[in-house]
Amino acid sequence: MPELLEVRSLHVDVEGKRVLRGVDLTLRQGEIHAVMGPNGSGKSTLAYTIAGRPGYEVVEGDILLEGESIVDLEPEERALKGVFLGFQEPPPLPGVRLSSLVVAAVNKRMGVESLSRAADPKVFGRLVAALQRVGLTAEYAQRELHVGFSGGEKKRVEVAQALVLDPKVVILDEPDSGLDIDGVRVVASIIRDLRESGKGVLLITHYARLLQYVKPDRVTVLVDGRVAARGGPELAEEIERKGYGAVAGQAPAGTA
Ligand SMILES: Nc1ncnc2c1ncn2[C@@H]1O[C@H](COP(=O)(O)OP(=O)(O)OP(=O)(O)O)[C@@H](O)[C@H]1O
Ligand SMILES: [Mg+2]
Repeated sequence: MPELLEVRSLHVDVEGKRVLRGVDLTLRQGEIHAVMGPNGSGKSTLAYTIAGRPGYEVVEGDILLEGESIVDLEPEERALKGVFLGFQEPPPLPGVRLSSLVVAAVNKRMGVESLSRAADPKVFGRLVAALQRVGLTAEYAQRELHVGFSGGEKKRVEVAQALVLDPKVVILDEPDSGLDIDGVRVVASIIRDLRESGKGVLLITHYARLLQYVKPDRVTVLVDGRVAARGGPELAEEIERKGYGAVAGQAPAGTA
C-alpha cells in the first residue's frame, strides 16, 4: 500500500527565492503529523506547495498522493483528489458564500456541472452541523466568506470546511492561531476525530499548546527550509521547554 501523502526531497522557489531546500515527509492514514518550526522556516510554503498554489515553483523533488505524483496538477484537481488546505490567513472572498463554495466543491466531486444547485441536498445540513460543531451559527454559511470575520471565526470556518468536504489529506496551517481556549479545545477534538475516521492530518503549528490536546503521531521540525529534527510527541514538548535553537540541527536521519 502506498503512503497517503509523500513529500520527497522538495525544493521550492517563491518569487525566485529558494524557500524549501529538500524536505522529506510522510503522512499516513489515521495519523497526525505535526510540522513545527520558527517563523519563516517554510511551513506555510510547504502547505501551499502541496495544495498547488500558483507561484510556488517545485524545482526539485515530488509530492505523491497514494503513490501518484500530484505536482503537475492544478489546485482544483488536487482538491478533487482529496487534498484540503485550511489557510493560516484565509483571504476574504467578497461575493462568495461559504454555502456556495461547499456546494460547488461537492457537486464537482460528484461530477455535476451546476455550481449553484446542490447535487446532494444533505450538504446544507452537514454544513450547518459542522458550523455548530465549531461554535458558529448557520448564519455563517450565508455570509460572504471571511469578510469581516474575526480571527478566531476564520479559523473555525476553515476547520468546519474540512469536516464537510471529507478530504483524505487535511492540512491545517496554524488552526489554533487567534482561537480562544474553547476554540482550541473544539479544534483539537475535531482533529482527533479526523484521525479516528482515517484521514491524514498535517498539522502546522509553532506552539505546542494545541499539541497538549492532540498528541501527534509524528513531529517534523523545519528550520530554514530544511528538516532540522524528527521525532514523536516528546519532540514538541522539548521544543516548548527549550525553544527551537536547542533541537535544530539534531539528526534529521531516519524515515520521513
Ligand atoms: N511571496 C513571497 N515572496 C517572497 N518571500 C516569500 C514569499 N512567500 C514566502 N516567502 C518567504 O519564505 C520564507 C518562508 O515563509 P513561510 O510563510 O513558509 O514561513 P512559515 O514557516 O509559515 O512562518 P510563520 O510561522 O511565520 O507562519 C519566509 O522567509 C518568507 O518571507
Ligand atoms: Mg506560516
